[in-house]
Amino acid sequence: MAIIVTIDGPAGAGKSTVAKLLSKKLAFAYLDTGAMYRALTLKALNEKINLEDEEALVKLAKVTKLDLEDNPAGLKVLLDGKDVSQEIRTLEVTNNTFYIARAPKVREVMVDWQRSIGNKKNVVVEGRDTGTVVFPKAKYKFYLDADIAERSKRRFDELKQKGKDVNKELLTEELKDRDNKDLTRKVGPLKKAQDAISLDTTKLTIDEVVNTLYKHINKNG
Ligand code: C5P
Repeated sequence: MAIIVTIDGPAGAGKSTVAKLLSKKLAFAYLDTGAMYRALTLKALNEKINLEDEEALVKLAKVTKLDLEDNPAGLKVLLDGKDVSQEIRTLEVTNNTFYIARAPKVREVMVDWQRSIGNKKNVVVEGRDTGTVVFPKAKYKFYLDADIAERSKRRFDELKQKGKDVNKELLTEELKDRDNKDLTRKVGPLKKAQDAISLDTTKLTIDEVVNTLYKHINKNG
C-alpha cells in the first residue's frame, strides 16, 4: 500500500515549499493539487469558457490531459502536453481559480485525477482538502497555518524575488478574499482533518517545519 502524507492549509502557510522538501527527504513523489486547479483555470480562460457555467467546465475537465512532472529542477505542469508551469502562477489565474474550485462536479474530476496519481506511489500531497476529501485514510496528515501578516509577507517576498511589482495592501486583501472563498465553499472547503496535526509556521523557518513533519513520520514508522 502506498504511503500518503497530506498537507493542507491556506495560501502562504508554507505548504508548497515544505511539501517539496519533505518529499525529497522521504524519497516520495510530490503532488501539488493547487497546480491542477490552476491549470484548468488557465485553459478555461484561454478558451473563453464562461466560468459560471459548471457543465461547460466539467466538459472541459473531461477532455483535458494534465500531467505533473516532478523534476529536480522543479514541478513541471503539462496542460495537454504544453508546459504551463509559469503561466499558471499569474495573478489572473490565481484570482480566478475559485470558479473551478467551487464547482462540485469539476472537483469530482480533480479528485479522481489526484487519487489515480496518489494511490500508485508513496506521495506527499498538498492542497486544501487532501486530508479530508481526497485521501481521508492517509497515514500522515498535517495542517499548516500562519498569521495573515506573515503569509502576506511571504507572498510579497516571493513575488518581489520574481521581479514583480506588487502592492502589499492589495496582496493582503486578495489573500483574505481567497481564504474566505476557500473556507466557505460547499464542497472541498479548506478544513483541518480531525486527525491532522496542526502546525503554526508563523515563527518557524522552512527547515524547522520540514524537520518537525519528518520527525513525526519517522517516529511513527
Ligand atoms: O495551492 P494554490 O494556492 O496553488 O491553489 C490555488 C487555488 O486552487 C486555491 O486558492 C483553491 O481555491 C484551489 N484549490 C482547491 N483545492 C485544493 C487545492 C487548491 O480548491 N486541494
